[in-house]
Amino acid sequence: MHVLQKEMILPNGVILSNRIAKSAMSENLSNKHHEPTPVLINAYKTWAQSGAGLLITGNIMIDSEAIGEPRNVVVQDRKNMEVLKAWAASVKGTNTQLWAQINHPGRQAMEQINSTLKAPSAVALKTGGRKNTTKKVPEVLSESEILDIIEAFAETSIILKEAGFSGVQIHGAHGYLVSQFLSPYTNIRTDKWGGTLENRSRFVVEVYRKIRERVGNNFPIGIKLNSTDFQKGGFSEEESMAVVKILSKEGMDLIEISGGTYEAPAMMGKRKASTIQREAYFIDYIEKVRKVTTTPLMLTGGFRTVSVMQDAVASNQLDIIGIARPFAVFPNIGNEINNESRTDFTCHIKKTGVKVLDGMMNIIWYEAQIKRMGQGKSPNPNLSGWSVFFNYVWLIVEQKLIKKPVVIKE
Ligand SMILES: Cc1cc2nc3c(=O)[nH]c(=O)nc-3n(C[C@H](O)[C@H](O)[C@H](O)COP(=O)(O)O)c2cc1C
Repeated sequence: MHVLQKEMILPNGVILSNRIAKSAMSENLSNKHHEPTPVLINAYKTWAQSGAGLLITGNIMIDSEAIGEPRNVVVQDRKNMEVLKAWAASVKGTNTQLWAQINHPGRQAMEQINSTLKAPSAVALKTGGRKNTTKKVPEVLSESEILDIIEAFAETSIILKEAGFSGVQIHGAHGYLVSQFLSPYTNIRTDKWGGTLENRSRFVVEVYRKIRERVGNNFPIGIKLNSTDFQKGGFSEEESMAVVKILSKEGMDLIEISGGTYEAPAMMGKRKASTIQREAYFIDYIEKVRKVTTTPLMLTGGFRTVSVMQDAVASNQLDIIGIARPFAVFPNIGNEINNESRTDFTCHIKKTGVKVLDGMMNIIWYEAQIKRMGQGKSPNPNLSGWSVFFNYVWLIVEQKLIKKPVVIKE
């Protein structure tokens, strides 16, 4: 048995059957009303057989007024309980845990499909790519809105637990709302939610505590956290390590490390060529943070070869290997890693040749592959970048044209 095949027992006793986890990938596969679809559930049925110990869903929005992408799933009430149960049941009969990633995008909500953008402070995205084309300045969240969002994270979590998901992961990375609160660049508040690191981390701590209060001690809660934002004046490594310490003390079950934001997308490989070559983008940080916590650590970004994955876990720098893009192209990846029938999972996407579009391709090309998987088709390494782009534009147009569903809050 090699090191990646060994089970991992989380502090609360929950067992991950091996060290391979599918990191969150926004599938963009809800229906027009942000409800999970059979295609989405089918993709998870395929991944349930992939041999991974843990699958983390793409980000699920906690509020229908703040959506990251046109076809994100929203979970804010119990009206879709049956279909959520079917999604959670996709891993039934396997040794795979299915955790739901929960998210509020804050200023990274997609401007084209949301009526307002709200964030800790009125700091607009400099370059939002597909998220924010006019660099609209977000409205500042009031204290009562902050408390409502904290409550909403907890409400979404308990609904997902009731539906049968085996855990939740707070999206605290990549410049979304939790990470906006943490960063001194996007959080310039002068009340108790901003200023010192203690104040900036109050939001994530309160989100964690409120979720824990509702789901109990045995239900795993994880977080995806930035090692740094890779931005001048942003969340630094030192601050990130301090937050890891705080969250470990609070009882977080698993901390996944990533880095970057939509303005500085380090998480997608916007790193030095030597870093990409070395694979694990944030390994330097994980070595440092390992020394300040005993909470299980997962590292995501850049892992492509089995030998690098094995070395990373064998050296005890981290516990779980997080993998995203290769899961969209190699649906049997966990088994192939574990039995070493394939040892390299490098992916080559088809680009359009237009720089601004090809930035997006790093996401939407993979989303298109996930859709194929959900439709029962094999991944297509030759899938055209142009067809992916036009399909994506159509989704945004369609989302703008449809009337928003009436949301009945319980
Ligand atoms: C299609 C796609 C969607 C993504 N959506 C999310 C998401 O919803 N939540 C998240 O935390 N990260 C998301 N990511 C980032 C990945 O989880 C991961 O951090 C990144 O792709 C680097 O890992 P990799 O090199 O193994 O792909 C997404 C990445 C891709 C390609």
